[in-house]
Amino acid sequence: MIRFEQTFMNFLLQHQEKHNRTYHFLILMDAMINAARHIQHYYLTGALKGNLGLSGAVNVQDEDVMQMDQIAQEITIHYLKSSGRVIHAVSEESDEIIQINPEGGRYFVYFDPLDGSSNIPHGLPVGFMFGIAKRNLDGPEDGHLRPGKDYIAAGMFVIPTGTFTLGLKEAGTWRFHIDETMTFVRPTRMVLPEDTKTWELSFNASNRYTYAERVQKWIMENESKYAFRYLGALAGDFHRVLTNGGMFMYPAIVNHPNPKKNRPEGKLRLMYEGAVVAFMCREAGGTAVNEEGIPILDIQPSKHHQRTALYVGSKKLVEDVATVLRKKG
Ligand code: F6P
Ligand code: MN
Repeated sequence: MIRFEQTFMNFLLQHQEKHNRTYHFLILMDAMINAARHIQHYYLTGALKGNLGLSGAVNVQDEDVMQMDQIAQEITIHYLKSSGRVIHAVSEESDEIIQINPEGGRYFVYFDPLDGSSNIPHGLPVGFMFGIAKRNLDGPEDGHLRPGKDYIAAGMFVIPTGTFTLGLKEAGTWRFHIDETMTFVRPTRMVLPEDTKTWELSFNASNRYTYAERVQKWIMENESKYAFRYLGALAGDFHRVLTNGGMFMYPAIVNHPNPKKNRPEGKLRLMYEGAVVAFMCREAGGTAVNEEGIPILDIQPSKHHQRTALYVGSKKLVEDVATVLRKKG
């Protein structure tokens, strides 16, 4: 007997039918899956084909653009366009908001096609991360940028590991694995473990003395209770936290010896990094806050590439650090 696994698309079909929803979201997710599979293919063969280097371009943030960033961007835009379902998209790889189908589209897609650039030259895990919001169906749509609490779904592919994690509004966070036919299968519900035994802390330890004093103190008092893990790619680091519990954090940098290197607003991007993991985390029973202890999902973006500090993971741990963050000074 052949053992058949439930596919992601079949899982989603059942989900939409159970909630009496349309198939538009399925069509959009089919586009995201096709994009992810193509990115996965280019990444896996990247070292052999010479695609893991720098492109020579520099983006508006003054960061070097990798060849894979451009390839992943081109692939994703192609599939979003062909879906016909997207009004506009925000991408880390594009300075401007990308108008896709302003008249006929139904969704907004905020994405980072290849996050975790420092892993690219090594072929080590990177992420394709995205958040999705839906247009106003009851009246005119003004196209404003949505806060995380208005996303209907958010997810990440860990490439080339072959895992896909998707948070669905009020319906949980689910993980899928890629099979030998490059199909994502075996829906598994993710719930953050209550038991602290497996909990991990994840942050760039070389930055710790540049954090606010209260954050440094919190780390000093708490770090020995948990294992420390850091991959340097948000999707991979958050993937671990979602499974094992604990917290990933990228605090604001406010005490750098070279003040020009301070990042009081944090490093990560709100719309396609911070809010994406915060959304999946909420659906798995966790939470996420910024440097002021404000829930990440409540932050209304005022610009599409807005940055944020991020503390995301198990509720108890994030709420504990949030009490410290809310005490200013
Ligand atoms: O651009 C975001 C990112 O690459 C994340 O994926 C990752 O968590 C973080 O930056 C790593 O930054 P750093 O190299 O400063 O630790
Ligand atoms: Mn990124």
